[in-house]
Amino acid sequence: MALLSVDVSRKNLLEESVINFQEVFGAQPTLVASAPGRVNLIGEHTDYNEGFVLPVAVDRSVITAAGPRDDEQLAIHSKNFNSLVQVPLNNLCATTEDRWSNYAKGVASFLLRKGHHLRGANLCIAGNIAEGIGMGSSGAMEVAVAYSLCALNGIRTDELELIKLCQQVENEFVGINCGIMDQFASVSARKDYALFLDCRSLSLEYVPFPSGVTLLVCFTGVKRELTSSEYNLRRKECLLATKLLADAIPSVRALRDVSLEQFENYRHLLNPTLQKRCKHVISENLRVTQAVEALKRGELLEFGSLMYQSHLSLKADYEVSCAELDTVVDICAEAKGVYGARMTGAGFGGSAICLVKDEYVNDVITRLKTEYPKMTGREPLIFTCTIEGGVDVRRL
Ligand code: GLA
Repeated sequence: MALLSVDVSRKNLLEESVINFQEVFGAQPTLVASAPGRVNLIGEHTDYNEGFVLPVAVDRSVITAAGPRDDEQLAIHSKNFNSLVQVPLNNLCATTEDRWSNYAKGVASFLLRKGHHLRGANLCIAGNIAEGIGMGSSGAMEVAVAYSLCALNGIRTDELELIKLCQQVENEFVGINCGIMDQFASVSARKDYALFLDCRSLSLEYVPFPSGVTLLVCFTGVKRELTSSEYNLRRKECLLATKLLADAIPSVRALRDVSLEQFENYRHLLNPTLQKRCKHVISENLRVTQAVEALKRGELLEFGSLMYQSHLSLKADYEVSCAELDTVVDICAEAKGVYGARMTGAGFGGSAICLVKDEYVNDVITRLKTEYPKMTGREPLIFTCTIEGGVDVRRL
C-alpha cells in the first residue's frame, strides 16, 4: 500500500472505504473487512526456519469494502494508488504494472485453485499501513481480501487454511518467499496480547502485553528496492545451510533443529556467510523463548536486553539492518525509560520499535525527532501503537 496519512483512524478508514466504494462502483458495499498490520516484538527471520516469533497486531489496518457483481470479473480499486484494475476471474495473472493488485488477484486465484466457487466482485482497498515500513501491509491486504471474498461467496473455511493460502499467494503469485508470521498475526491476534507462535507446529500461546508500557514505532524513511531479492537470498542461504548440516546431523529438518552446541561442532562445514546466518537464526530462536518467559515474569528489562541482542544479531550476523535503523536503536538506547529497541520486520530499511515506560514516551519521541534528522539527514515518522485483535468482517 502506498502511504496514506498514518493519522487516519480505523473508524474514519471504514467510513471512507464505504464512501469510496459508492463513488467508484455506484452501489453500496455489502461488507467491510479490516485486517491489522503487525509489529514483531522479537523473533526475526525465524518463521521460515520453522522457529519462533512473537508478533502483536496493531491499530493500523488494510480495509476492503466489497460487493458482488453480475459478471465473472474482479474489479479492484486502490484508494492509496488511486487506480482501478479489472480482470476476468478465469484469467488472473500477476503483472508488473499495478503491482499492488497482485495480492488481491492472487487470493482470488488461489481460492479458485482450491476448488472454491467465486462470483464476480468489486473491491475497494484502503489502509493506513505504509508499504515498506515493515509492518506487514502485504499480509494484511491478503487477509482482508481473503476474508472479503470468502464472506461474499459463502465460503466456509478454517482459519489456518486461509492463513496458509495467503502465505502461498505471496510465495507463488507475488514471488516473495515470506514465512507465515504476518498473515498469522493479522488473522489470529488478540487485543492486548502478543502471539507466541511456533512456526513448525503452528501452535500458539497468547502472552499478555504488559501495562504501563508503550510500543513506539519509528519509520526510518528508508524503503529499499532490494528487499525482495535480499529476502529471498537469505531464505536460500538458510536452506543451503540446513542441507549441509543435515548431511552431518540427520535429525535436522530446519535450522530450528540445530542447537548452539551442534552449530559449534559443525560450523566448519559452512562458509563464513552461512555460519553468520545460522548463528543469528539459532540464537534468535533461543532469545524468543527467553523473551516469552521474561514477559510472563514481568521482567521488562530482561525482555528489552533480548531486543537489543536481537538487533545486534540482525545487524552483524544476518546483515539485514542499515545505518538508519541502527541510529534509531542507538538513540532509544540512550533515552530514559526505554526497556529495549530493535528493528522489526524484514529489514533493509523500514522501522525500528522501542518499548518505553508510558511516562517517558514524549521524551523519547522528542529525542528521536531532534537527533535522528541530524544524524541521518532524514525525517523519521514516529507513532505509538495499541495492541489489537485480528481480522474483522462486518456485513452492512
Ligand atoms: C517479513 C516476512 C515474514 C518474516 C519477516 C522477518 O515480514 O513477511 O514472514 O520472515 O519478514 O522476520
